[in-house]
Amino acid sequence: MKTHILVATDGSDTANKAIDLAAELAAKFDVPLTIGHVLQFGRPSRELARMAEVEHIVESVQKTQQVDFNILSGSGGGDIFSSSRPSSDVVRMITLMGDEIVTRGVDRARAAGAGKVDTLTADDDPADGILDMAEKAGADMIVIGHRGLGRIRSLLAGSVAQKVNNNAECTVVTVR
Ligand SMILES: Nc1ncnc2c1ncn2[C@@H]1O[C@H](COP(=O)(O)OP(=O)(O)O)[C@@H](O)[C@H]1O
Ligand SMILES: [Mg+2]
Repeated sequence: MKTHILVATDGSDTANKAIDLAAELAAKFDVPLTIGHVLQFGRPSRELARMAEVEHIVESVQKTQQVDFNILSGSGGGDIFSSSRPSSDVVRMITLMGDEIVTRGVDRARAAGAGKVDTLTADDDPADGILDMAEKAGADMIVIGHRGLGRIRSLLAGSVAQKVNNNAECTVVTVR
């Protein structure tokens, strides 16, 4: 019997599947669910731009916030997100995207039947951030996607998924 579930989401389709399963389990066990997201500082801008487009995050955020998403594609191939000191616009955009990702996660989890749903965000290496959030939430199960936004031609599990699986102290469920 589990007492608290943390699901990790990067906004990808596979992470959405993880949210669906986590919410179903939380409902069945009647336990709280935490939606956890690690802010994507240091992620390749290509990945972020693709996600923002595919998931319509740009439109959603732009409805309520003044932010120029052209910064994602307008860097002439350079990687603005790998900068150790990102500009305040980039910081703001990544934070807004993170807010949008967890908000959507909450809506999705509720729709899938979860009762008590909380959120956490972290600013860290993704796997370390997920493990820290699980500890902070008191989770004894982590649900994670097998792949994320980075699926580039590899059949291997994503590196975040692998690292969480290898290092977690609690049960990890990997969703495909
Ligand atoms: N920044 C993040 N915040 C929260 N969860 C994440 C993050 N990045 C990845 N994950 C989780 O890890 C899963 C696998 O992603 P990852 O290992 O990064 O694969 P890929 O290499 O395909 O991107 C995702 O489905 C999601 O559950
Ligand atoms: Mg990834």
